[in-house]
Amino acid sequence: MLDGKRLLLIVSGGIAAYKCPDLVRRLRERGAAVRCVLTRGGAEFVTPLALGAVSEDKVYQDLFSLTDENEMGHINLSRQADALLVAPATANMMAKMCHGEADDLATTVLLATDKPVLVAPAMNVRMWEHAATQANVETLKARGITFIGPDEGDMACGEFGMGRMSEPLDIVDAVASFFRDRSRLQGRRALVTSGPTYEPIDPVRYIANRSSGKQGHAIAEALNGLGTETTLVTGPTRLPDPPGVNVVHVETARQMLAACEAALPADVAVCAAAVADWRVEAEATEKLKKSPGVGPPALVMTENPDILRALSEPGNRRPGLVVGFAAETENVVAHAQAKLDRKGCDWIVANDVSPDTGTFAGDANTVHLISHDGVEDWPRLSKKAVGTELALRIADALEAVAGNAS
Ligand code: CTP
Repeated sequence: MLDGKRLLLIVSGGIAAYKCPDLVRRLRERGAAVRCVLTRGGAEFVTPLALGAVSEDKVYQDLFSLTDENEMGHINLSRQADALLVAPATANMMAKMCHGEADDLATTVLLATDKPVLVAPAMNVRMWEHAATQANVETLKARGITFIGPDEGDMACGEFGMGRMSEPLDIVDAVASFFRDRSRLQGRRALVTSGPTYEPIDPVRYIANRSSGKQGHAIAEALNGLGTETTLVTGPTRLPDPPGVNVVHVETARQMLAACEAALPADVAVCAAAVADWRVEAEATEKLKKSPGVGPPALVMTENPDILRALSEPGNRRPGLVVGFAAETENVVAHAQAKLDRKGCDWIVANDVSPDTGTFAGDANTVHLISHDGVEDWPRLSKKAVGTELALRIADALEAVAGNAS
């Protein structure tokens, strides 16, 4: 159901726009309030009169209309919505969204919004399959935009293939399940660690590792998408902070542990960071210098705290579900199973990080989910998809525990 949800429907210029009055009607039947923004192209296929009649609201079209800006304004249009739905989203509209263009009301609202955006693409099959469109889709997905369709089928241009806008009822179902997912873990708290740690040698040098943080960040984003209040404790990465997530930036393992402890209590903790096992025992306070006749310094190392093990310690501060990662280069599953016992956590996500897999810096991951119940081998997935899948598994597990308790 969409009771009380306020949707801003942005209709851009594709033939599928003729389905929009029906889409508005179906959304409203499920309880949503729908307000429409119509682009100049969209108005070639559907009239503002039709959209206004079915939405029972004014249809907004012109960025530079003084009356519109005084009455509502492009910022308020987004502020007064729970989500924005772009349907149909043409190839051109997606390209503009990708590049942050704001040359009309629709694109300006999309650039100015901090609300979730859903996109139902509609275009000719070759436009959909074009490398430019596919790259734009990936970029928009990486920014957290949700795609609905497109579907495969006969097209208005007489061709057959992928690119047809999903049917209004399917779009309505997808919007409903989007809102359901977003509140699935409402009221729960999640803690995620991500990235490498930097362990200082002296004020200018440090020991680090190749972790990009992509997997941990994707997990935090996915958990946040299910409605958890999420804290991401991350070592230095090149990644932007995931929107809506409380991000704590740290450098060393000891700082990471302190930040994790400060983020407790949590219902779930996922330790995806590649924490340095050792640090230099005595960090030099001044930069180490070369001296003639004296060789390189001998660095004495000491063990870092094990954050995953600390979080897994029994006690009332222990998160209900603790998930670790195992980065292995050989005997992946066997090593990971041993790690599950050694660390005391509930699940281990094991991945092969041998150089030939490209896992560390890359965008994809092949993982095995190991619990006390057994091993599940997942297919090779993007790190985003691993994040989404893991978040859904976590939701299932937390809901099962809550169900048993009640
Ligand atoms: N981890 C941690 N703190 C550490 C070391 C590891 O929290 N000081 C966590 C990682 O975030 C990961 C899990 O422990 O979830 C396993 O990390 P990994 O580097 O694979 O294992 P190690 O414990 O370091 O064991 P080894 O290096 O011997 O494989």
